[in-house]
Amino acid sequence: MSDILVRTNRVSRTYGALVAVDGISCQVSSGQRIVITGPSGSGKSTLLHLLAGLETPSSGSIEWPGVGAREQLRPRAVATIFQGPSLLPPLTVIENVALPLLLDGADEGSAAAAAAAALASLGIEDLAGKMPEELSGGQAQRVAVARVLAGAPRLVFADEPTGQLDHPTAAKMLDVLDDAVSAVGATLVLTTHDRRVAERYSTKWSMADGRLHGVD
Ligand SMILES: Nc1ncnc2c1ncn2[C@@H]1O[C@H](COP(=O)(O)OP(=O)(O)O)[C@@H](O)[C@H]1O
Ligand SMILES: [Mg+2]
Repeated sequence: MSDILVRTNRVSRTYGALVAVDGISCQVSSGQRIVITGPSGSGKSTLLHLLAGLETPSSGSIEWPGVGAREQLRPRAVATIFQGPSLLPPLTVIENVALPLLLDGADEGSAAAAAAAALASLGIEDLAGKMPEELSGGQAQRVAVARVLAGAPRLVFADEPTGQLDHPTAAKMLDVLDDAVSAVGATLVLTTHDRRVAERYSTKWSMADGRLHGVD
């Protein structure tokens, strides 16, 4: 299997006349931690969603040499932490964490065990029975990290995961995310418009007007 997990070739995504992502060629290799910076509206989320296989390109191509075809990406191999709240309100924390595993065909016992282990590894096992509405923003994002890591993905995308957190809470959440990504040996691509977040990562790409700069 290739060390290149995802590669784009002059990929663009348009919405009507608007060019959100404009002819980007890039690749992400196993073990990398990449931060994508850029102002609001520069195309960071669109690029991340393309890389995660959640959006289809308007032109150009994307392949996942080290993972498989688009159909094989989710929910185990490639996982995404979204910008806003993403927990399902009617489910408890542990049910939220177990859900992607159940959708992937795990039996209830093993899904529950993996969910409990993911919560414990993040030190939030005490939240297991809570409802999402009872959580603080920082706690909810930790649960979102646990949900992603329960499936031991190869490739983790995080779209401004700290965008709605104050700085100390954001820093703690990123510590948790970085440790968790290391623990499962995953590769991380994260977007942010916060310079202090970007400084944590050595590989920096920046976006402006749908174009990518700083790619080595
Ligand atoms: N689903 C969509 N429909 C129409 N326009 C969109 C959609 N998603 C993104 N855009 C537009 O594409 C551009 C890039 O958006 P986005 O990728 O969300 O940027 P960023 O994440 O850097 O803020 C923006 O002008 C945004 O309004
Ligand atoms: Mg965005």
